[in-house]
Amino acid sequence: MELDLKRARSETPGCQHVLHFNNAGAALMPQAVLDAVVGHLRLEAEIGGYEAASQAGDIIERVYEAAAQLLGCHSDEIAIVENATRAWGMAFYAISFQPGDRILTAMSEYASNYIAFLQVARRTGAVVEVIPNDEHGQLSVEALRAMLDERVRLIAITHVPTNGGLVNPAAEVGQIAREVGALYLLDACQSVGQMPIDVQAIGCDLLSATGRKYLRGPRGTGLLYVRREVLDQVEPPLLDLHAATWTSADSYQLRPDARRFENWETNTAGKIGLGVAIEYALGWGLEAIYRRVTALATDLRGRLAAMPAVTVQDQGIERCGIVTFTVAQRAAEAIHAVLAARRINVSTSLLTSTRLDMEARGLQSVVRASVHYYNDGDEVERFCAALEETIMAGPAPDEDQVMEQFARFPRRK
Ligand SMILES: Cc1ncc(COP(=O)(O)O)c(C=O)c1O
Repeated sequence: MELDLKRARSETPGCQHVLHFNNAGAALMPQAVLDAVVGHLRLEAEIGGYEAASQAGDIIERVYEAAAQLLGCHSDEIAIVENATRAWGMAFYAISFQPGDRILTAMSEYASNYIAFLQVARRTGAVVEVIPNDEHGQLSVEALRAMLDERVRLIAITHVPTNGGLVNPAAEVGQIAREVGALYLLDACQSVGQMPIDVQAIGCDLLSATGRKYLRGPRGTGLLYVRREVLDQVEPPLLDLHAATWTSADSYQLRPDARRFENWETNTAGKIGLGVAIEYALGWGLEAIYRRVTALATDLRGRLAAMPAVTVQDQGIERCGIVTFTVAQRAAEAIHAVLAARRINVSTSLLTSTRLDMEARGLQSVVRASVHYYNDGDEVERFCAALEETIMAGPAPDEDQVMEQFARFPRRK
């Protein structure tokens, strides 16, 4: 079934204002999400924050059910937190590493995750090892197999990296993790919301995701999946009176479910908005969403590849909605700035976000144009026309200044 594009666009207020190819940064919220967030904030203002949360109790429970449906798990395996980094960190820092334990990761691992590996390796004597890529630029399943032994404690990889359309073979990795008895933590920050994700089929024990990217939820929301069977093998690095109960002067008891990875105070309006965003995505169907996203991205890549000055930088056998490219003799930041001045939203992915991969490919930065199902063919055409004009015009005399000004804005991820 084709997705009703007209409805998708009419339910997305931002479509009237911008050409938004920054869905891997933060997608445009649908009206239903906006209404849910604003509605709850209004209720908080009118009757009080605690009272509003209590009144919305059933709606809040539904957020967990929706997330469970999205990922193919049980609602007691879901924790709702502030963002993907917090979700991932709560899971990773919950693992007790011993000297010599091996952490296997991949070339396209996200900076925040890798920094955490380095910190934990320094603290505990665990070692971090990187699985090489295969000839397609995705994690090599063969190479992973060759690296296995009983000291592999954790396999932690990124499903879709921040800097390209690559989709790593997550389910093959899950199969291997099970065979070797290692924990498997999947950073699904860029994949959840744009493609079907089934934690049973993938075989991961822990999965992190964010609300504002392909799920189209509000900022400041994220979620963590923790498989029931591993819940008692991983102890949250931070506890509070929501994660645990103070049972006597010198004891406490952890919650029985994944919410032990949450903390008490939370952005309830955001959480409700996240639930509505997930239900909205489920309403369209993740298969249909992914079909449309990949069709648009393939069209965009084809058009970009036909421009002599442009090099498409995406890798992998399967490629998703994130399209990255470089332009000869022009900094990615400059292209980003010129397009932004025309109300065309893209972002720039820098070496420091995925250092191993960018260094291996000799890239400093890439322009990232990430499409979603509510984008249309006309936008792809307008985008390409604007890019061609930008290339034809050459660097503006003040391009250095423009870039400097641009760099003062918070860095887009
Ligand atoms: C692959 C990947 N992991 C994690 C994150 C961090 O997500 P958040 O900003 O929600 O913490 C990002 C953000 O761009 C990402 O691309």
